[in-house]
Amino acid sequence: MRSKVSVIGAGNVGATCAFRIAEKGYADVVLVDIVEGLPQGKGLDMLEATPIIDSDANIIGTNGYEETAGSDVVVITSGIPRKPGMSRDDLVKTNMQIVKEVTEKVVQHSPDCIIIVVSNPLDAMVQMALHASKLPRTKVFGQSGVLDSARFRTFIAQELNVSVEDVFACVLGGHGDTMVPVPRLCTVGGVPITELLPREKVDALVERTVKGGAEIVALLKTGSAFYAPGTASAQMVDAIILDRKKILPCATLLEGEYGISGVVVGVPAKLGQNGIEQVIELKLYDEELAALQKSADAVKGLLKVMGI
Ligand code: NAI
Ligand code: 2OP
Repeated sequence: MRSKVSVIGAGNVGATCAFRIAEKGYADVVLVDIVEGLPQGKGLDMLEATPIIDSDANIIGTNGYEETAGSDVVVITSGIPRKPGMSRDDLVKTNMQIVKEVTEKVVQHSPDCIIIVVSNPLDAMVQMALHASKLPRTKVFGQSGVLDSARFRTFIAQELNVSVEDVFACVLGGHGDTMVPVPRLCTVGGVPITELLPREKVDALVERTVKGGAEIVALLKTGSAFYAPGTASAQMVDAIILDRKKILPCATLLEGEYGISGVVVGVPAKLGQNGIEQVIELKLYDEELAALQKSADAVKGLLKVMGI
């Protein structure tokens, strides 16, 4: 029997993620949005592509949650992006209500599901989904590091003219200005990039990675990135449904690891059928650890705004 994955929010990221999952054929997909007709239309369009992509997945779109019942994994992408005149705190307050309401409805119909949060501000929204679902940290976490490290891998591969497949990149921390790319743990064919590139070049690639989201927004003007974010979210779903035990960066609640407790930040974790099966604790240098703790402090600031 095929698994079932629901994607909440049929906008740019949600639709991209849903289609990537449908392409794999291992799960039926339910697409949910508040806008009437949008998830139904996109769902039907994707379904009509299945004969071409040779997938037997069923894809439906809906404005309700009944159809999501019994989902194995739910990806939450619903939310609004920041608009002119809105502060970061305004965005938090709007999206926290959306994520809270959506999470409550999701667990009402799928009490045993695993939730991957994508809505921004990411780390704070994971924290809200944990709060609203009352599920353990193994089952509620967020996508950001897969995207951020994919961006870093892309820039490294371009710089060194090598296949992206041979590049490993390590990005820790929150999904924002305080994210922590760790160049000494980024390798090409096993060799650290700090041995392959001069310091200034590494710094420039780090800077471009941290500002990767803003670079796309500046080009698109009316929205943010979605192909890479949707694909990154789908990779996390693959790891869970196919029980791949993949080590991927996940925005997860730390419980003492890295000296941080009660805050969600991005760290490597083992992803399998039970969700986060192990949080990996890397040996970090003092300055790297301090940067990660600074990132956690930024998330703590948003928790105060949310009152949780
Ligand atoms: P979008 O505007 O294209 O789609 C958002 C969708 O959510 C819309 O279709 C909207 O109708 C829907 N929605 C709003 N309230 C809802 C509710 N209560 N229930 C169900 N659906 C609801 O936005 P896009 O580009 O898809 O981005 C979605 C979110 O993901 C944003 O918060 C964005 O900032 C975030 N994002 C996060 C990334 C990450 O790496 N974590 C990367 C890219 C985007
Ligand atoms: C990104 O990094 C906006 O979070 C989104 O592209």
